[in-house]
Amino acid sequence: MKLAMIGAGYVGLTTGACLAELGHHVVVFDIARDRVAQLRRAALPIFEPGLDRLVHKTLSSGRLSFTDCIKQAIENVQAVFIAVGTPSLDDGDIDLSQIDAAAHLIAANLDPQTVIVIKSTVAVGTAGRVREIVAEKRGKADFFVASNPEFLREGSAISDFMRPDRIVLGYDDEQAGDVLDAIYAPLAGVAPVCRTSTADAELTKHTANAFLAMKICFANQVADLCEAVGGDVNAVMEAVGRDSRIGRSFLNPGPGYGGSCFPKDTRAFAHTGRSKNAPQSLIESVIATNVERPARLSRRILSQAGLMRGDAVALLGVAFKANTDDVRESPSMEIARELTKAGIRVHVHDPQAMPNARRVLGHEVDWFDNPMDALSGVDAAVVATEWDDYRRLDLRRAAECMCGRHLFDFRNLLDPAKARHAGLVYHSIGRATVNFKSDGAQRAVWSRGGVLPFPAAAGRP
Ligand code: NAD
Ligand code: UGA
Repeated sequence: MKLAMIGAGYVGLTTGACLAELGHHVVVFDIARDRVAQLRRAALPIFEPGLDRLVHKTLSSGRLSFTDCIKQAIENVQAVFIAVGTPSLDDGDIDLSQIDAAAHLIAANLDPQTVIVIKSTVAVGTAGRVREIVAEKRGKADFFVASNPEFLREGSAISDFMRPDRIVLGYDDEQAGDVLDAIYAPLAGVAPVCRTSTADAELTKHTANAFLAMKICFANQVADLCEAVGGDVNAVMEAVGRDSRIGRSFLNPGPGYGGSCFPKDTRAFAHTGRSKNAPQSLIESVIATNVERPARLSRRILSQAGLMRGDAVALLGVAFKANTDDVRESPSMEIARELTKAGIRVHVHDPQAMPNARRVLGHEVDWFDNPMDALSGVDAAVVATEWDDYRRLDLRRAAECMCGRHLFDFRNLLDPAKARHAGLVYHSIGRATVNFKSDGAQRAVWSRGGVLPFPAAAGRP
């Protein structure tokens, strides 16, 4: 089938390339001309594992192409996907201006009977809004609008698209449903297909993201409780997650959820609830707790490492999670801001996200191309993103490079015993702090907000 994709961001680019890999002919259009020019050379504007190879392959096969001409993009296509951005407005509502602009662009050039498929994450009712915009501009409603929310995650986008847990097809006309079925026919045996109305499809996407954010927030609060009472959040979640009604995934505590989706989508979900008089108090509370978390963890670093103005901290990882260069609403970036506000010099390293982070933090922090350089001479270190590079960190070398002893692992990534043997005071999330001054057996020091006595052997100036 011949398809068009409006928007060449994380979602448009990945799903466009994946649909081409499934055998369709896909033309991707973006208003950012430089992005289109770059993509035509198979140079990717984003980092996503495996995407460069897939784009290169599908471009070479002729099934994927890029254009900055809307007429050329949607000529003779059976469906036009909209995958433009849907950021937050100040009150939490979704800013639909990119969707509206895309609808206006499409309207004048659309062939009759084409299906407009909304892939962006939108508020309930947006399919109806797009239908109105396009019908008004065309002076007739000779087209269909469908909703096909996307559930891929950055970092595993290709496999998430190719092997999804389910495919959600929202349509209000059978003809639109038939076109969607034909598009997804190659994946029909791979994943269950949920067919529903456009409104339910829109609601499904926001509900799923709100629930996942709630799971993470719950795990973070349980971790706080474990810290306070001497529990081990990993052990608790392993056991809790064995209950098939609960499940183990998305119960990993950390510095809070970030990224371009959960924060904005929870805000939008809560906003819809408020505006429709169906308050989503659970999610309102999740949002408030998550916003507060980086500041809470920053206070913990300052207090437990006994830091003073002018001290230095290495911050390993600024991407909102591993395997992406995305720093949007990254909790780690907030931690950097909180620490600098407290007069701490922050040494930042990230394997992929430094160019994006540098555009935001600029000269507020110092940038290092490798983790050992970032650790050199610091009074404390923080692992904030779960990159494999940090999982494999040579802790003995790290300890030698550092001036202080305190290592904060906000992803529970490292082995406490190895940290202890390296001579570090190892703080993690929802588990005992492990002090290197142990005598034989591992000694756990329960530390709740207090400053740990700084070991003289650490040789801190
Ligand atoms: P993005 O910011 O990476 O990309 C958006 C692209 O749309 C940009 O290239 C921009 O230039 C282009 N654009 C803006 N207005 C346009 C217009 N009028 N015509 C053509 N192109 C236009 O955004 P993204 O991360 O790909 O997200 C897109 C949507 O998908 C959002 O609604 C998001 O919530 C949703 N989503 C994102 C993910 C994810 O992991 N990033 C996953 C699922 C769903
Ligand atoms: C998320 C959803 O997982 C996707 O299904 C969805 O399509 C996407 O949002 C979207 O709507 O755009 P993504 O934001 O790429 O995907 O990343 P996740 O892997 O979900 O992680 C989101 C945040 O939660 C990250 O900051 C991550 O570190 C954090 N997280 C995740 C935890 O703290 N603990 C966990 O157990 C899982």
